[in-house]
Amino acid sequence: MATRKIMVLCTAAATTLVAAPAAATAAAGELRRHPTEIVHLPGHTVTEKYTSPLPHTYVPADGLPSSFSWTDVGGRSFVTKNLNQHIPQYCGSCWAHGALSSLADRIKIMRGGHGMDINLSIQVILNCATEVAGSCHGGTHTGTYEYASNNPVPFDTCQNYQAEDNTCDAIGKCKTCWSFNEECEAVQSYPNATVSEYGTVVGEENIMAEVFARGPVACDIAASRLHEYTGGIVDIPELPAETDHVVAIAGWGETEEGLKFWIVRNSWGEYWGEGGWFRIKRGDNQLLLESNCGWAVPGSWTELHPRPHPPGPPGPHPHRNGPQQQQQQQERLRSHGEEGAPMNLGAGTLQRLGRARRGADEAEV
Ligand SMILES: *[C@@H]1O[C@H](CO)[C@@H](O)[C@H](O)[C@H]1NC(C)=O
Ligand SMILES: *[C@@H]1O[C@H](CO)[C@@H](O)[C@H](O)[C@H]1NC(C)=O
Repeated sequence: MATRKIMVLCTAAATTLVAAPAAATAAAGELRRHPTEIVHLPGHTVTEKYTSPLPHTYVPADGLPSSFSWTDVGGRSFVTKNLNQHIPQYCGSCWAHGALSSLADRIKIMRGGHGMDINLSIQVILNCATEVAGSCHGGTHTGTYEYASNNPVPFDTCQNYQAEDNTCDAIGKCKTCWSFNEECEAVQSYPNATVSEYGTVVGEENIMAEVFARGPVACDIAASRLHEYTGGIVDIPELPAETDHVVAIAGWGETEEGLKFWIVRNSWGEYWGEGGWFRIKRGDNQLLLESNCGWAVPGSWTELHPRPHPPGPPGPHPHRNGPQQQQQQQERLRSHGEEGAPMNLGAGTLQRLGRARRGADEAEV
């Protein structure tokens, strides 16, 4: 592991900038503020939807390791690719990035890291989840999950990220273009993923239990002080007034000096921070990071390359699912007749494995 340097952001200088006269638009430019990207839409009426027990009720806080990260579980990464919400032009879609990155990570975890990563289309959320989740002018992580619990989210090869609010016609969900001078067409049937349960989690230990048991979470944060971040552990004790950005917590650690921190993914490209990621002091709700995190449990997803044999256990750690979830999962698999079902390996066959990590989950009990 690389040497961990502790960096304290220059609070005095930043405070001066923040205190600059509001009328001076140039000052705002210097601070590189962006408009708030957290906007709760009136159509987002269900912020929690679950029946399974929450991880903090079955993962004992004193049983959590002092460091754990989905970026490195026994030498393997269970996180999906880094993203950049700011190109090809500025778009305030952090909420969709944080939410779908975490969901894609959780699908990867449930697949035991097998196969090519499943990358979900953020652009389709911008096109279609305009009533419930958000737009380039802001949105919410739980709104994204509410949408994904009611609508299949296509993979990103259906619709690349364009950083703009387009329309949700059939082409706005999944499209292809066959030739020059020919209109692009909608694709009616496409690989996709859904959410079965989602909700929010607040506070250091509850967030740790959720991340440990089920995977990364999307969290609100006050980000204006993050623009100047270039690496190290953010330590800004004074609490900001409100959040304006969404990032994803994938793990945590502790320095030799005993400084506890979160390991967090941003969506500002890899030229920002520590390769697109940052660390921030854990336990004090710094920048309000521990005040409102959204989690989602993958429902089903299209398995592109079903394997001839049921996947073996990835075994990153125990407690991934609560006992009740495992039981429910096995019941669902049985009711879908997926247990021991022969896999069709015909070319182009998209086989839905759904929550097909049965073997793995059993092995982890
Ligand atoms: C998802 O993105 C990653 C990173 O670009 C890539 O390696 C992977 O192949 C993609 N998945 C698919 C199914 O194309
Ligand atoms: C979503 O994927 C499943 C298979 O994983 C498929 O049965 C379903 O038709 C897909 N939905 C759409 C709208 O293509």
